Amino acid sequence: MEIQLKNDKPAVGNQVFLIAATAALRQLPLNENELAYVQAKLTDAPGLLTLNRLGRWIFIVAIDGGKAQNQQVELWRRRGNELAAIAKKEKIRAIEIHAADTGKGPLLAFAEGLALGNYAFTKYFTDGQAKQQYLSEVTLVHGDIAPADIERLKAIIDSVTLVRDMVNEPVVSLNALKLAERFGEMGREAGFTTEVLHQNQIESLRMGGLLAVNKGSIDPATFSILEWKPETALNSRPIILVGKGVVFDTGGLSLKPTPQSMDYMKSDMAGGAAVAGVIYLAARLKLPLYLMALVPATDNRPDGNAITPGDVITMHNGTTVEVLNTDAEGRLILADALSFARNYHPDLVIDVATLTGSAAMALSTQGIAGMGSAGAETMARLQQAGDEVYERVVEFPLWDEYDEMIKSDIADVKNIGSREAGAITAGKFLQRFTAYPWVHLDIAGPSFLPSADHYRPKGGSGTGVRLLFRFLENYVESIRPKADKLE
Ligand code: BES
Ligand code: MN
Ligand code: ZN
Repeated sequence: MEIQLKNDKPAVGNQVFLIAATAALRQLPLNENELAYVQAKLTDAPGLLTLNRLGRWIFIVAIDGGKAQNQQVELWRRRGNELAAIAKKEKIRAIEIHAADTGKGPLLAFAEGLALGNYAFTKYFTDGQAKQQYLSEVTLVHGDIAPADIERLKAIIDSVTLVRDMVNEPVVSLNALKLAERFGEMGREAGFTTEVLHQNQIESLRMGGLLAVNKGSIDPATFSILEWKPETALNSRPIILVGKGVVFDTGGLSLKPTPQSMDYMKSDMAGGAAVAGVIYLAARLKLPLYLMALVPATDNRPDGNAITPGDVITMHNGTTVEVLNTDAEGRLILADALSFARNYHPDLVIDVATLTGSAAMALSTQGIAGMGSAGAETMARLQQAGDEVYERVVEFPLWDEYDEMIKSDIADVKNIGSREAGAITAGKFLQRFTAYPWVHLDIAGPSFLPSADHYRPKGGSGTGVRLLFRFLENYVESIRPKADKLE
């Protein structure tokens, strides 16, 4: 889908008008009957109204007032997605979107929802469904929109699309090596660097957690290091994003049952894909921050030599772990990446992982479980960004008492707690491998959807990309020297 910008208002083709107050309806190309009809309808139930003029479409869109600002923005995104559905059904190819009296914020949000909702993973259909992306030309008409706004929107859509594609790709065509290759391609396109550590280097670095999970795999593990370090960077020590890259999680010898459990586990690299998507966005939009992403990747499978319940392993930082459940593999590979992150003396480390069913049980697909040691201000900023982009974060506690639950009889720590507080004991496990301000985001619930939720399609959602990019943009604004600000 091509999104473009126009600053004048020639009335042609299919048009969408976004309305804040019904008074704005008078400016629209409607006759008296239509005006009365639209006015009555929108007053009764604000939403998306369709007028079909023999093949030429006019849509008039309003939202419920009286909600919080971030919820109103979200309603515009959802209305945009409704248009995507109609466009698909009616085979509409091109459309012009006008902000009648709403300003550019709602227009950009509407376009974002439209483009995000227009996503489909079609590469494996052999009957040409891939070509059924009808809406191919979207023109935004508003004098206040700058070309940079459009570039930003396009980059966000492209990033979320790339991430969704990776999450939806099955392991047969996306193993750890292929995942690393995709990061390399993204880097070449956007301008960040990717270094991939291979099996022998991972062995030399004694990444015992990643190697243990990889023991049951016939494919080698990878450890990808993505870097975006512009000359304009406002920070001298990096912000590091760490993403879980389990390309398929069978559970290993602690095998998962298939229905509603193992069957979606191609998505267990969603955190790794998301952090790559954030670096991609930062590079494409030249965000003035020094950023890195670390993605340890492997599949988790049972095999003759697979890691076995009861095994004790030694991690990258020397900690010993009693592995009592091979299905708690994410924390093992992340722990090595978190220890490794220390080499870069980071300002802040945020890990993103489909880590526990427990987080999904607590929040379903609507929320991300956040926890960490970075302090209240960082958590508040993440939650603020989450509210803005509607990838909401709720804080879970990392109280000392939970450490008791992961004490091992024979090693420094064990890799499972009990059923209770499973998302938290996973976080407590990770915390032992951090020595800097750190936040853990468990995206197990929202990363892969069993059915579409507005502009988030069934399957890979791209969760984490918009959240973290907004967080970083807001961070830039907060530290940018005041003189630089153009107000
Ligand atoms: N990848 C899963 C977590 C998961 C569950 C992600 C559902 C997405 C949807 C993770 O590796 C896992 O298996 N966690 C176990 C941990 C347990 C054995 C301590 C879980 O949550 O059941
Ligand atoms: Mn698992
Ligand atoms: Zn997993």
